[in-house]
Amino acid sequence: MAIRKIATLGHPVLRQVARAVTEEELLSPKMQSFIDDLIETMHDANGAGIAANQVYEPVRICALHVQNNPRYPYKPNIPLTVLVNPVIEKLSEETFDNYEGCLSVPNLRGVVPRVVHIRVTAQDRMAQPLSFEVKGLTAGTYQHELDHLDGLLFVDRVVDTKTLATWADFERFHLVGFAERAKALVTRFGA
Ligand code: NI
Repeated sequence: MAIRKIATLGHPVLRQVARAVTEEELLSPKMQSFIDDLIETMHDANGAGIAANQVYEPVRICALHVQNNPRYPYKPNIPLTVLVNPVIEKLSEETFDNYEGCLSVPNLRGVVPRVVHIRVTAQDRMAQPLSFEVKGLTAGTYQHELDHLDGLLFVDRVVDTKTLATWADFERFHLVGFAERAKALVTRFGA
């Protein structure tokens, strides 16, 4: 396993629409080893999630894992999840304001509207079908990762650019208010 370099804002690989992965390719030792690297890179950077194109491989694979994350202390835990060729279906029109950050957008956070209730359909890393619903704050994390696979970054979805903040100023001016709103979402949705 190896920690991969993470592409940052401005690199064209982040703007590419990632390509679908075939089952044969997915089950190959090379792709399985790549998925191990993706997970290790996410853990090393304390990311809540990471998409393959963030480490210069434009394929439709992403990983999520939240376990008492120091970058996002208010985030509910998410078990380690690998999604291959994932698709999101909106199950609500309601959105909430998510204060997002990204490993590929160093030292910047901003408010992005995200749908509160979605269905995720994908394959796992062994090509087995997955289909599950996600609600609340955690639904925002899934939408952020899937956006990467379509070449989108959270900054593209920031409606009010006055919400943009460095991490230090997020903590200084916005963390308390956002953590309260996040807590209300977790209470409502359990996620
Ligand atoms: Ni990101």
